[in-house]
Amino acid sequence: MSNNEVFFKWSGDYSVNIKTIDDQHRELVNILNRLFVAVSRREGDKVIAGILDALMSYTQTHFALEERLMRQAKYKDIEPHMEEHGKLLDQLDQLCKKHLLEEKPIYFEMLSFLKTWLKEHIQGVDTRYSAALQQAGFSVAAWEREATAEFALMSNSKKWWEVWKAA
Ligand SMILES: [Fe+2]
Repeated sequence: MSNNEVFFKWSGDYSVNIKTIDDQHRELVNILNRLFVAVSRREGDKVIAGILDALMSYTQTHFALEERLMRQAKYKDIEPHMEEHGKLLDQLDQLCKKHLLEEKPIYFEMLSFLKTWLKEHIQGVDTRYSAALQQAGFSVAAWEREATAEFALMSNSKKWWEVWKAA
């Protein structure tokens, strides 16, 4: 795969029909793509560690917001969904530790794992909660308006990400 090729190409098939959540998923995809480029170009452990940090913190913030949405909408399958989130964070953490311990780059293994996980998660459980919420008549638009402060926080980190990406 050449460096010019996009590692994870976003498509409308990944939309869960909630704009805020879609925007955050796209941002996760952007971070993964940035990681792919850094690994392909051998930009070095320090750069890669910074991207992994960004990935970890953005993922945690995104999960927190998604879980808040499900809690407020009294979504019945929130527990198994939160378990999936917790499991991913553990796996991500383990992959980072494995890399440190074994002192060999496992970035490509990590990248393909994360890409598959994100695709399956979005098209699986994320799509299901979104559909259930809309079917139950939960006003996502009102929720989005109410959660303005958190969204501002997310967009701040997005701005930070943009600056950092351009550097
Ligand atoms: Fe999720």
